[in-house]
Amino acid sequence: MNTVRGKIVWVAGPAVKADGMMGAKMYETVYVGEERLIGEIIKLTGDVAFIQVYENTSGLRPGEPVESTGSPLSVSLGPGMLGSIYDGVQRPLDAIGRISTGFIKRGIKVDPLPRDKKWKFTPVVKKGEEVGPGDIIGEVPETPLVVSKIMVPPNAKRGKLTYVAPEGEYTIEDTVATLETKEGSTDLRLYHNWPVRRARPFSRRLDPEVPTITGQRVLDTFFPISKGGTACIPGAFGTGKTVTLHQLAKWSDTRVIFHVGCGERGNEESEVLTEFPHLKDPATGRPLMERTVLIANTSNMPVAAREASIYTGVTMAEYFRDMGYDVLLVADSTSRWAEALREISGRLEEMPAEEGYPSYLASRLAEFYERAGRVVTLGNPERIGSVTLVGAVSPPGGDFTEPVTTHTMRFIRTFWALDANLAYTRHYPAINWITSYSGYVETVRKWWAENVTVDWYEQRYQAYRLLQREADLLELVRLLGPEALPDEEKLIIDVARMIREGFLQQSAYDEVDAYCPPLKQYKLLRLFVMFHKLAEEALRKGVALKDIRSLPIISKLIRAKYEVPNDRLELLDELERAMVDTFEKLAYGEKVEVKA
Ligand SMILES: Nc1ncnc2c1ncn2[C@@H]1O[C@H](COP(=O)(O)OP(=O)(O)OP(=O)(O)O)[C@@H](O)[C@H]1O
Ligand SMILES: [Mg+2]
Repeated sequence: MNTVRGKIVWVAGPAVKADGMMGAKMYETVYVGEERLIGEIIKLTGDVAFIQVYENTSGLRPGEPVESTGSPLSVSLGPGMLGSIYDGVQRPLDAIGRISTGFIKRGIKVDPLPRDKKWKFTPVVKKGEEVGPGDIIGEVPETPLVVSKIMVPPNAKRGKLTYVAPEGEYTIEDTVATLETKEGSTDLRLYHNWPVRRARPFSRRLDPEVPTITGQRVLDTFFPISKGGTACIPGAFGTGKTVTLHQLAKWSDTRVIFHVGCGERGNEESEVLTEFPHLKDPATGRPLMERTVLIANTSNMPVAAREASIYTGVTMAEYFRDMGYDVLLVADSTSRWAEALREISGRLEEMPAEEGYPSYLASRLAEFYERAGRVVTLGNPERIGSVTLVGAVSPPGGDFTEPVTTHTMRFIRTFWALDANLAYTRHYPAINWITSYSGYVETVRKWWAENVTVDWYEQRYQAYRLLQREADLLELVRLLGPEALPDEEKLIIDVARMIREGFLQQSAYDEVDAYCPPLKQYKLLRLFVMFHKLAEEALRKGVALKDIRSLPIISKLIRAKYEVPNDRLELLDELERAMVDTFEKLAYGEKVEVKA
């Protein structure tokens, strides 16, 4: 490789121009200035390179040297990532203090993966075997919750193994196998590097048929996201974006979790960093961090690293996907990420498009969301893995017509719209059931039928109809007053309110209610749908609406979500029987009264 050496001619915040850069490549990483700050070439015209610098550039002056490295911005992929806290370019942030002060010593090269730590490697291939890209050559129990698969890098050539290390303890730099190909021999180690802006290859994409179960009723039942799916959660200030993303991170049935904090305030981010290490994995009771990676770029850290952070995150996520795991990545908030893009673009004096964002905002968002998917991975043995992507969006003033929200909507299939009015009335999660949508309802239908219950789709439809009809009826009530409605319609409003309180509302802080298993979601929903049917029938038989409204069972139904423990679902069947009894008595009682 020829090192290109140029000179800084201009500095503006995180953006630097350097001349004498002929021969350098787009997206190549460079060392900037005497302190050798890390930067990336984001534009090249003639011999002038436009560079975004991932570190604080104060003190940097024209005339200082710029040196190319020959490689694109990359991450190191291997054991040691789980449990780590990184900045946007995979530098470990080991002290929380550093995050809140935004202080990372400049120009220091910190290893993203521990160099000295020894890992127990067990080979699964033998000397003389032929292997190709993505093949698993061995395993490392990285944490008690995740076994890391050591893979032939996706860009390697097929060849024969001339050496395979025996089971034993190795550092990531030790050679664990040697691959002989037509082009020569390569030592394989426990890690390899991969450029963050290039999606890792896979064999083929699968249909989004398997839902990501989040344990959040409004999401799983009404607006599901599949494994490998995409969702965004837009919401005004304080409507519940962060809490919802944390619920997903804590409860989703995905093996590995990435939490990317982009540009939130330092104190908010340090909340994540102090909270997460205390969380327990719900299935095993072990620390959740044993299957989590945190990426943090607070508002006081360099903006360029924030721009890179979502790509850094998704590249690491793809690596676990390639092992055959389901991975969830949540980004909070992509609006702050877009602001970083805007700031750098502004510094480079590019022509701004809508609201000052660069014209490539949409394509950059697409480059992120397109990396979601459930796939058959490269290599042997055959395995399936997925990356699910969820991004919070913070539209200024809660206006969903602004560019980041509208462009994001083009690339996602599930839209969880947070509603300030719901949040204001403490309806949490404040997800508006009328404006939200999911493009996966049809695709995950079969999974629910096969794994939970055959009539999930039907019950969901019935309940959703009631909610839609309520919305229409409430319009009428606003115009004409509540007395204008016939009893059957008043009943719909009553039942919709029961569904809102007893099903849609779900406290993230209640011990039982924080997570609701799929079967409980179904059984609860069924209670309300059945209540509506029974009550409608009772009305038809002449029972008075006021008698239905005063049934004590109503409050029991609403409280069932937290009064029925998640492992005592037979109590919901009992409740259903009690409800049927109640209505039988009601109708009978009426008849007796009428006769008398
Ligand atoms: N599911 C929930 N259960 C209980 N409370 C909730 C829930 N969702 C949100 N809240 C309440 O709303 C508050 C604000 O939520 P959150 O911090 O997630 O908002 P945000 O949209 O991330 O705000 P910001 O725009 O400031 O980032 C929380 O502190 C909590 O009290
Ligand atoms: Mg937030």
